[in-house]
Amino acid sequence: MSAQNPKPVACSLTRATLATALLLLASGAPANAQSRTVWDGVYTNAQALRGQALYKDICSSCHRDDLQGGGSEAEAPALEGSIFTTQWQDRRLVDLFLAIGTTMPQDAPDSLTPQIVIDIVGFLLEANGMPAGETELPPQLAPLEEILLTSEPGD
Ligand code: HEC
Repeated sequence: MSAQNPKPVACSLTRATLATALLLLASGAPANAQSRTVWDGVYTNAQALRGQALYKDICSSCHRDDLQGGGSEAEAPALEGSIFTTQWQDRRLVDLFLAIGTTMPQDAPDSLTPQIVIDIVGFLLEANGMPAGETELPPQLAPLEEILLTSEPGD
């Protein structure tokens, strides 16, 4: 479907999907037993590669090619290293997915499809040294609720 989508970026479905997602979260999503962390191989190399190309197109003007932030938008934070991992420490991957999907890119928030956002999340995990695995991250909330962001394996 997305291959034939004439509006690859501005997709009204995204808005609906993320808005619904936020409502579900606000109404108290069940606290799933956390089964996995980002160190358990939760994305694939192919997904991170797609995400890297998307990141360069959409994000790097502000967050820079090396993910150190402070590009054309000086307040853009680093998305790699301890600044990033400390900020997201012990949060669910779904939080990062929603933060990017609803607030980024800062000059066009809520304009990306869930698939684009999750591919970029895969790239960010790779850039932070988390290992790839056999299964792609899905652009869906429930499975992302069950993955914990930690700065070290076994944290
Ligand atoms: C026009 C400049 C710009 C672009 C393009 C941009 N960002 Fe940002 N980003 C910012 C700024 C400024 C902040 C800090 C203020 C804020 O959180 O809104 C930020 C914050 C963030 C944060 C932290 C959010 C939080 O809740 O703390 C993440 C993660 C992020 N950006 C990821 C991305 C990704 C991924 C892309 C590409 C899809 C992207 N950004 C594109 C400027 C930008």
